[in-house]
Amino acid sequence: MKRVALALGVMVWAMPLAAQNISNSPHNLSTSGQTVGNTVYASTETQICVFCHFPHSTGNPTYLWNHAATTASYTFYTSSTMNAATPTALSGSSLYCMSCHDGTVAIGDVVLPPEGGTDPIAMVGVEADGSMPLTSPARLGTDLSDDHPISIQYEDGLFSSTNEDLGLRDRSDTNTVTNGTITLHLEGEKVQCGTCHNPHDNTNAPFLEASNTGSQLCLTCHLK
Ligand code: HEC
Ligand code: HEC
Ligand code: HEC
Ligand code: HEC
Repeated sequence: MKRVALALGVMVWAMPLAAQNISNSPHNLSTSGQTVGNTVYASTETQICVFCHFPHSTGNPTYLWNHAATTASYTFYTSSTMNAATPTALSGSSLYCMSCHDGTVAIGDVVLPPEGGTDPIAMVGVEADGSMPLTSPARLGTDLSDDHPISIQYEDGLFSSTNEDLGLRDRSDTNTVTNGTITLHLEGEKVQCGTCHNPHDNTNAPFLEASNTGSQLCLTCHLK
């Protein structure tokens, strides 16, 4: 990549970064994840999508979800200045992410095993109970009080100019916040993990929807 950049000089700078696919990201949990430098990967399983999706799911039909669900309860972010109501439970994509990232469910614990494979899928680099390594910064745990609020309404109240949070950018439609070239998606008007992260694309590590250079991701929503 570096060599190409040198050869093509200015032309390359003008081009957007090439999208990195899931195969060469930390979410390649299959056995080939080892070859891209991951520390958590399957002993023998070669499929990549099966950890999270199954083509004929009997689990959660939304997104053909195939990872065993977390049943943990969480401590959420609170503050005296936040307008949005603190959630009572996780929802949307946050529930999907936390089924691996809270550390209570084995990484290889799926609803349906892959063709010819096992459930749980045998993994390398995980704790004895199969969960995310205790040493991994990606193991967020169940205390989310020190993490950006999630499963919260963007602008408390409805999508209307009479009940808006003046510290937040107006939405361009119910579920979209846009600033310049960055567009972020809310889920049912809520900020979820999937609002800021794209689990399939690590072009903007760590799996960010857009680069956070100059805090531009934050400034997409916050008027600061
Ligand atoms: C580590 C978990 C994980 C893996 C592995 C994964 N996905 Fe996903 N995928 C998700 C999550 C979480 C969502 C929910 C939407 C979101 O937040 O982006 C999703 C949503 C989707 C969607 C619907 C929304 C969209 O972004 O288009 C498609 C299609 C999809 N995944 C395809 C795939 C395919 C194909 C693979 C394998 C090459 C794959 N995914 C691997 C986690 C994963
Ligand atoms: C099937 C389990 C699983 C699911 C579901 C999952 N992840 Fe991950 N994720 C992992 C593992 C394993 C790692 C690697 C941890 C390590 O090596 O320390 C990881 C790493 C990450 C990282 C760190 C990447 C880096 O460059 O260091 C981020 C960010 C992340 N995941 C976000 C998400 C988000 C957001 C979702 C939901 C949209 C999600 N993950 C869903 C298993 C999962
Ligand atoms: C408001 C945006 C936002 C939301 C919502 C969000 N994240 Fe992140 N997350 C970020 C940013 C930005 C970073 C990178 C921080 C940095 O600069 O290192 C990050 C980093 C991470 C990391 C890497 C941690 C580390 O220390 O290496 C993981 C794992 C992660 N997020 C998972 C999640 C999960 C799971 C959720 C939902 C429970 C979530 N994030 C919700 C913006 C967000
Ligand atoms: C998708 C939109 C979005 C993005 C992107 C985003 N935030 Fe937020 N953030 C919110 C919303 C909505 C709230 C809740 C605000 C409220 O209701 O008062 C919030 C709350 C917060 C709070 C707590 C405010 C309080 O009053 O306690 C902090 C601090 C914060 N965000 C910082 C950040 C930082 C830093 C980033 C970038 C890493 C970021 N946010 C990215 C939407 C976003």
